Amino acid sequence: MTAAAAPYIERRARLAACMQPGSVAVLATAPEVLRNGDSDYPYRHDSYFYYLSGFTEPEAVLVLVAASGELPARSVLFCREKNLEREIWDGYRYGPEAARLAFGFDEAFPIGELDAQMGKLLANAPALYYALGHSAALDAQVSGWLKAVRAQGRSGIAAPGTTHHLLGILDDMRLLKDADEQAIMGRAASIAAAAHARAMRFTRPGVFEYEIEAELLHEFRRNGAQFPAYTPIVASGANACVLHYNQNNRQCREGELVLVDAGCELDGYASDITRTWPVSGRFSTPQKLLYELVLQAQQAAFAAIVPGRPYSGMHEAAVQVLASGMLDLGLLDRQKYASAEDAIADKAHLQFYMHGTGHWLGMDVHDVGPYRDLSVAERPSRALLAGMALTVEPGIYVRPGEGVPEQFWNIGIRIEDDVIVTADGCRILSGDAPKSVVEIEALMEER
Ligand code: GLY
Ligand code: MN
Ligand code: MN
Repeated sequence: MTAAAAPYIERRARLAACMQPGSVAVLATAPEVLRNGDSDYPYRHDSYFYYLSGFTEPEAVLVLVAASGELPARSVLFCREKNLEREIWDGYRYGPEAARLAFGFDEAFPIGELDAQMGKLLANAPALYYALGHSAALDAQVSGWLKAVRAQGRSGIAAPGTTHHLLGILDDMRLLKDADEQAIMGRAASIAAAAHARAMRFTRPGVFEYEIEAELLHEFRRNGAQFPAYTPIVASGANACVLHYNQNNRQCREGELVLVDAGCELDGYASDITRTWPVSGRFSTPQKLLYELVLQAQQAAFAAIVPGRPYSGMHEAAVQVLASGMLDLGLLDRQKYASAEDAIADKAHLQFYMHGTGHWLGMDVHDVGPYRDLSVAERPSRALLAGMALTVEPGIYVRPGEGVPEQFWNIGIRIEDDVIVTADGCRILSGDAPKSVVEIEALMEER
């Protein structure tokens, strides 16, 4: 076993300890997906499978058998066999025995033996844990295994009497990032932060959004990140008011802002950063007014991230600052709303700030895990815990409209950072990406 396998072995042991004695868990990785012709989409493993295995090859299934009496817990990998001919075309594959040794499984078999082995592994297991509905192919296979085990009833063999939803347990585990995960996420955020700085240095009037995108991708890849964590958003001018804009094909003009939402995936973990900067290198007065407001909202959100406080606190804090700024700047009507509270109660702020202030971050950019405490009938926002990772991303998006001050038209700003909840607050992972007006203008001055 290599030292790199240790976190995965520890996670498998933690999962097995949550399971009924002698029961079995099954988890498959993601399928390869054809893009067109003979060309696949770049392969990306299943996040849950990777979390427990560290194994990135396609066509693999992990089986865990929980301890029972004297028998310790066991982990079993099914994967592709060695195949010299295929390896000449597609590259190295571990094969069961090398994978078992490298990733610390107790046993490993060729994937072709899955059906036969599952018949044995499920015989007399009291319960089955699996991700019902996660993969139609696996759902069908599991039905087949259960049917085959039940057919042995007359020989005194019992099929699992209960099934449990595996992903619920894994979602809770994934919500708290261990030291290994925090270290990788820190590196993923640093690479993305460097990419944003590079993109700022590159920007000038006349460049196309896709040229800025190319700078981001270049910086991700040269630092070893395998993928962008999601399609980058490079939105100049009015495009910044389209929340999921990613055509990235417009020419940036003097006097506009460009909003860039881009993060990389490093060793299976995402970063997710947004910065907004002036194409010319200097903010205009209306741009600066809105920018400083969003920055202030983000500071208020950071201050609300404290273990024990509800997740929703950061959104409430950001909305409070934004709504009050909207009144001060004339975006919302003081005659109509005496206070930020009044405006918020009437949902008036949604005209300019219509999304949440963040989300869990991890292997998936919008990572798994409940946002509410499902164990309480009222389902309140869940309390933050040290080790949770999330984004903090307030923004303001001003579309032209009646009564909307013209100086703010078509300005869209978002500022997004990645944080880990600590014992007494939060640690910002993405702080190297220039953010204050002074920092951004100074960096762009150097171009
Ligand atoms: N980039 C996706 C998001 O910010 O949620
Ligand atoms: Mn985000
Ligand atoms: Mn983002």
